[in-house]
Amino acid sequence: MNPVTAVVVGAGDRGRHVYGTYALEHPGELRITAVAEPDEVRRREFSELHGIPPERSFAGYEELFAAPRLADAALICTQDGMHYRPALLAKQAGYHVLLEKPISNTPEECVRIWKDCAQTTAEGQIFAVCHVLRYTPFFLQIKKLLDEGAVGKLVNLQYEEDIGFYHFAHSYVRGNWRDETASSPLVLAKSCHDLDILRWLAGSPVQSVTSTGSLVEFTPENRPAGAPEYCAQGCPAAQSCPYNAVRLYRWFAPAGFLRQIVEMEDPTHDLDHALLHTGYGRCVYACGNNVPDHQAVGLHFENGVDAQLTITAFSGRITRIVHIMGTRGEIQGDLAKNLICLTDFATMKKTRIRLDVPAEGHHGGDRGLTGSFAAGVAGGGATLPTTLAQSLESHLMAFAAEKARREHTVVDFKEFIRPFGL
Ligand SMILES: NC(=O)c1ccc[n+]([C@@H]2O[C@H](COP(=O)([O-])OP(=O)(O)OC[C@H]3O[C@@H](n4cnc5c(N)ncnc54)[C@H](O)[C@@H]3O)[C@@H](O)[C@H]2O)c1
Repeated sequence: MNPVTAVVVGAGDRGRHVYGTYALEHPGELRITAVAEPDEVRRREFSELHGIPPERSFAGYEELFAAPRLADAALICTQDGMHYRPALLAKQAGYHVLLEKPISNTPEECVRIWKDCAQTTAEGQIFAVCHVLRYTPFFLQIKKLLDEGAVGKLVNLQYEEDIGFYHFAHSYVRGNWRDETASSPLVLAKSCHDLDILRWLAGSPVQSVTSTGSLVEFTPENRPAGAPEYCAQGCPAAQSCPYNAVRLYRWFAPAGFLRQIVEMEDPTHDLDHALLHTGYGRCVYACGNNVPDHQAVGLHFENGVDAQLTITAFSGRITRIVHIMGTRGEIQGDLAKNLICLTDFATMKKTRIRLDVPAEGHHGGDRGLTGSFAAGVAGGGATLPTTLAQSLESHLMAFAAEKARREHTVVDFKEFIRPFGL
């Protein structure tokens, strides 16, 4: 079978490192045949990597979608506030669409995408949102256990999203998601797919949403005396500051996967230069950031299940830890360890399930999603495990949580979505 062909819109981190890499590693499944990217260096490098000729290499999605259809699928990898227009144009041009999450950074636009894209999509045309966690062996296994009744009746879901102190500093203090007015609220940008998982595991629509959270650490008041603008300029607190950019990007092995983003951000691709000339080298206490560094979300589902989601910057590891409590048993799991432990209350038998998954790309989620999408397109539009309508629901849960946090209130979900005509 011929590989599925795709255009990449936005050859940044996701476009280049996730989908681009998948295509290079699986040439029989996916081939990138065109790109739209305004940054000249990124566009040239991406085109060289994929052998894309100049006439298929565009400075923006507007030019790409003005041309006759160039491939089977469009992978939309622009920033959060720039999803609606390219997604709509791609869909109208007849491409199968894979849209990065979040769908958009406003609830109005998320609903508009759903109305304009999902409801009117031609038969067999796929429009999927990159909710990669749904494709992880870890969550697929947990869902299977719940469906088999392994814990009896589900009562509580405890879900801890450990962002990792270095990852948080990179993305939400120094990086693209530091200003929620320009990008997205934390609970949407980071956790719309965690809310999707909770909704999926609970097996019911949410009834009410509460939330608290704030920014406590990464503020100018906490800036050490004498700290320069860039850590590489020589900070007196360098030894004791866990967020020192030089140590994190140069020496701290777990942050290795972030180094390629820092290097890509600087046209020289030189780390030392990037640490003095891009936002990634800045003191974390002087970045003009405003997203909370910790947030808790409470969810009460219509079927009576209660869930608590904790999102935090302050963890040593990047992982998701779950504790799922039912009337006959409990499940404890750690995504990064790919470890699930089931306890049966009647026998007190413990079953440990260790999944064999490579430690990369959302623990198998990136590969699972890209492979499923390519297979779906190749199979003439077979449905994917998640629909745009399901993705929309979790996005609206995130916006409801943000309203609850800001207004110190309990949000009735049905009331919240009513103004959107839902
Ligand atoms: N699915 C996930 O788990 C996951 C993980 C991380 C990020 N994301 C999301 O993926 C998206 C992309 O993130 P990223 O880190 O790759 O961002 P990025 O900033 O690295 O890449 C975006 C690219 O879009 C390009 N661009 C800007 N205007 C354009 C235009 N008119 N036409 C074409 N390209 C244009 C930019 O130059 C940039 O290279 C974001 O919405 C982000 O939230 C999803």
